[in-house]
Amino acid sequence: MYATPRHVGNLESALIYHTIDLPGETIRGQWDLRDSVDDYLGNVDVRGKRVLDVGTAGGWLTFALEARGAEVVSFDMATGEQWDIIPFVYPGRCHGQIRRNVVAEAEMVKAGYWYAHERLQSRAQVYYGDYRRLPADLGTFDIVVVGMILPHVSDPFQLLASVAPLARETVIVTQQAEQIISAYARWMPQAATCEPDRAWWSLSEGCVSAMLGVVGFECERVTKRGYRRDFEDRDEDCTTFVARRRRPDELPSGTVMLSRPGTDGVRHDADEQDRTLRDSGSIIRELVDTVEATRGQVAELSAALSSETRRAELLAGALEAAQERTGVLLDALAGGVAREARLRADVTENARNLKTALGTLERVRGYQAEAGRLRRDLKALRHSRTWRLAGWWWRLRGLAS
Ligand SMILES: C[S@@+](CC[C@H](N)C(=O)[O-])C[C@H]1O[C@@H](n2cnc3c(N)ncnc32)[C@H](O)[C@@H]1O
Repeated sequence: MYATPRHVGNLESALIYHTIDLPGETIRGQWDLRDSVDDYLGNVDVRGKRVLDVGTAGGWLTFALEARGAEVVSFDMATGEQWDIIPFVYPGRCHGQIRRNVVAEAEMVKAGYWYAHERLQSRAQVYYGDYRRLPADLGTFDIVVVGMILPHVSDPFQLLASVAPLARETVIVTQQAEQIISAYARWMPQAATCEPDRAWWSLSEGCVSAMLGVVGFECERVTKRGYRRDFEDRDEDCTTFVARRRRPDELPSGTVMLSRPGTDGVRHDADEQDRTLRDSGSIIRELVDTVEATRGQVAELSAALSSETRRAELLAGALEAAQERTGVLLDALAGGVAREARLRADVTENARNLKTALGTLERVRGYQAEAGRLRRDLKALRHSRTWRLAGWWWRLRGLAS
């Protein structure tokens, strides 16, 4: 019935789910529970107890329980064929390939288990099978640990109802759980995104508590705290339920326990649940009214917004036209400036020419004055020469006569 221990020489074909310290090496995984495992296991004293670790994966909880003095049987699915794949119908989604990946991954997780098992010299026995058909030979246990597996199966109640009867004293359940009294299960897979692809249900704390109640267990402690997601560098809140088997003559208390960080949680009785449900009902009605009123305000605001948008569009148009006009004016101004520069150059040139012309005129006037003087001198000269010639003529005439 139990698996024969395997020798796994190296981690090449192994997948490590929890960060684990082994002799001489630390291997990192998705979760790091090294500092928080006692809280994860509800701080239950496991010394000398026979414990079933349901959904052991790489065996981290098994080895931690063993280190605390328990005799442990690790249980996980026989092959990846038993994993409840979410059958999203989505174009291009190849279920055959997804199944092959899950099967291969499950083998790698097992290899990680056996790698650590050998190095820690673990005495834990391993049963690979299916929670729907557990063999009677497994016997009973003092404690059954159900770590982070209920959200991953399509029928979490069936799993709990299969493994809880094996616990003589205590069932410990740890997983993400919403802090709500009402026993409700929120469906997680979304067709539009195919996400999440490995989690079916988010169970409220009230739901896990109520399921445990149905299978004969009473929550004694419910605690919530953050646990390290190693690769994502963040903490994720999980709730731990420590439930004790009811004695055969003991009636169910009808109470639900909710976690409260740092304490053992708070018990709520059935009346309180009813009151809470009634209160929730009136809160929901108030919320619906508020939503209706808000819807009206949103409609008003969106009308105002659309008229503002229209105005903004008009302003943007006017701004664009003004920018265009400014562009044209700037071009014209630039042309005017160029013309003015040309005119200034012309005026300067003309002034220079005028100055030259005035100089020339001045010189011409000088020449004219000079010419007048010469003319007068010439006239005077002619006059005196005429008189001298006349004198000579008279003298000659006088001589001749
Ligand atoms: C998320 S891991 C939980 C690991 C660990 N118990 C913890 O608390 O962190 C879920 C485990 O449930 C196992 N599992 C899923 N379906 C199963 C099935 N049908 N039967 C047995 N184990 C199953 C998976 O193989 C996996 O190891």
